[in-house]
Amino acid sequence: MRTKYAIVFICVVALVIIEKESNILSRVSDKLIQRQTPQQTPQTPLGYNNATQNGSMAMLKLLLSRLGDMKLNYSNPTEEQDEEEDIGSYSGSHKHILLLATTRTGSSFVGEFFNQHGENMFYLFEPLWHVERMLTMAAGGSNGSVSAGIYRDVLQGLFLCDFGPLEKFISPLPQDHVTPDLFRRESSLSLCEEPVCSPVVKDVFERYHCKTRRCGPLNLTLASESCLSKRHHAIKTVRVRQLDTLRPLVEDPRLDVRVIQLVRDPRAILASRMVAFSSKYQTWKAWAQDGQVPEDDEEVKRLKGNCDQIRVSAEVGLSQPAWLRGRYMLVRYEDIAHYPMQRAEEMYRFARIPFSPQAREWILRNTQTTQEASGVYSTQKNSSEQALKWRFSIPFKLAQVVQKVCGPTMELFGYKFVDDEETLLNKSISLLEERLFHYSYYQ
Ligand SMILES: *[C@@H]1O[C@H](CO)[C@@H](O)[C@H](O)[C@H]1NC(C)=O
Ligand SMILES: *[C@@H]1O[C@H](CO)[C@@H](O)[C@H](O)[C@H]1NC(C)=O
Ligand SMILES: *[C@@H]1O[C@H](CO)[C@@H](O)[C@H](O)[C@H]1NC(C)=O
Ligand SMILES: *[C@@H]1O[C@H](CO)[C@@H](O)[C@H](O)[C@H]1NC(C)=O
Ligand SMILES: *[C@@H]1O[C@H](CO)[C@@H](O)[C@H](O)[C@H]1NC(C)=O
Ligand SMILES: *[C@@H]1O[C@H](CO)[C@@H](O)[C@H](O)[C@H]1NC(C)=O
Repeated sequence: MRTKYAIVFICVVALVIIEKESNILSRVSDKLIQRQTPQQTPQTPLGYNNATQNGSMAMLKLLLSRLGDMKLNYSNPTEEQDEEEDIGSYSGSHKHILLLATTRTGSSFVGEFFNQHGENMFYLFEPLWHVERMLTMAAGGSNGSVSAGIYRDVLQGLFLCDFGPLEKFISPLPQDHVTPDLFRRESSLSLCEEPVCSPVVKDVFERYHCKTRRCGPLNLTLASESCLSKRHHAIKTVRVRQLDTLRPLVEDPRLDVRVIQLVRDPRAILASRMVAFSSKYQTWKAWAQDGQVPEDDEEVKRLKGNCDQIRVSAEVGLSQPAWLRGRYMLVRYEDIAHYPMQRAEEMYRFARIPFSPQAREWILRNTQTTQEASGVYSTQKNSSEQALKWRFSIPFKLAQVVQKVCGPTMELFGYKFVDDEETLLNKSISLLEERLFHYSYYQ
């Protein structure tokens, strides 16, 4: 009975605030309504604007129409669970995880935490790669605010299992919704398993598109069907620059989006990029040798710009605006390196997805130095050890430059400054402040 009154109360409150805060209403209904597989997907990028601007009355109707069902569910006397837990966990509904990162922050690795979840996960690796490439080709350098909107629309389509918006950006254009060119298809388990992996009769492209199986080109219709059949959806991207551009996505009542922002010490990022993209970073190497870094150089400005964008996004998330409350989590690369299992469990709890034995096993296999019974050799890297390597590869001079231009970002995330090379090179001095970034599971 208590629950029944609570629901009625919530409805009354919802009615009162509907004019001002349609956002809150959709959040309340989020919790009350067991959302079903989206039946229709927007054809135009404006689709969600109508949904959000004009969605409140429809939402209320839906909410009221579902109330009957809800009462039945909640009056089940065998359920002794805490109400909030009960409403908050709505275990039947679909979840959408957006893993937001920048390059060299371990995002592929963390993406695997979700990719490896098991049969109820549909994971996509950097689908926005196609969009960025097309925008760059078309515009010769893209307009930030325009591309942010397009990125969001494509992500929205994908979370709704509609590949249509993405398809327009795949080059060459897919024929009959079939393409051999989806970027890093093999990084997505669900695109490489039955039934999406269509058997190869005669592969005109003379190559297979998955690592472990002989799959033909990707049939996006099949991919979409597979997506619709899965309960959880995760997308990893390094291409979204500003968290607040995602607001309409987070507020879309058809979705249950949670954002995990992955950050890393900017000094380590630079060190890692200098190794990974060696030729692009020749100027940095030259500067390190001269001992002179021109701070008005475009490269340095770009570094600063990147740091500022990451910080601004994190500030938005950590300030817990109403539209994002309970839906944002900040994770440091270094914490994952030290405690991969604990952090993965936290991410799953935050996402309200059960942590699966498959994911656990994958993490174990890929983070620990495993001593086989024979004890002869170990093949996996010690991830804590790995997380320190950058300190021996970055020239001290460059570490100082990063500290100068990325100072506020480092402070926000708890990365300690070094004043001399000895400290940089002394492994027993931690450069990481213990810090908890609070977030709430239920709001
Ligand atoms: C959405 O709204 C825009 C203007 O606000 C309108 O032009 C468009 O037709 C609407 N779309 C739908 C699907 O209602
Ligand atoms: C919402 O849509 C209805 C038609 O479905 C329209 O009559 C009404 O004016 C719209 N309200 C707003 C606030 O756009
Ligand atoms: C980007 O596009 C928007 C909207 O078309 C426009 O207002 C803005 O001035 C553009 N910015 C740049 C840097 O071109
Ligand atoms: C792709 O899959 C759909 C759904 O099974 C099927 O109807 C369609 O014929 C397939 N497309 C091609 C080109 O094989
Ligand atoms: C990994 O390296 C860290 C730091 O050197 C060390 O403390 C830890 O014991 C190592 N773990 C394993 C499993 O070897
Ligand atoms: C490294 O730092 C620790 C703790 O401050 C200090 O005890 C040790 O002597 C330092 N090692 C070197 C080689 O400077």
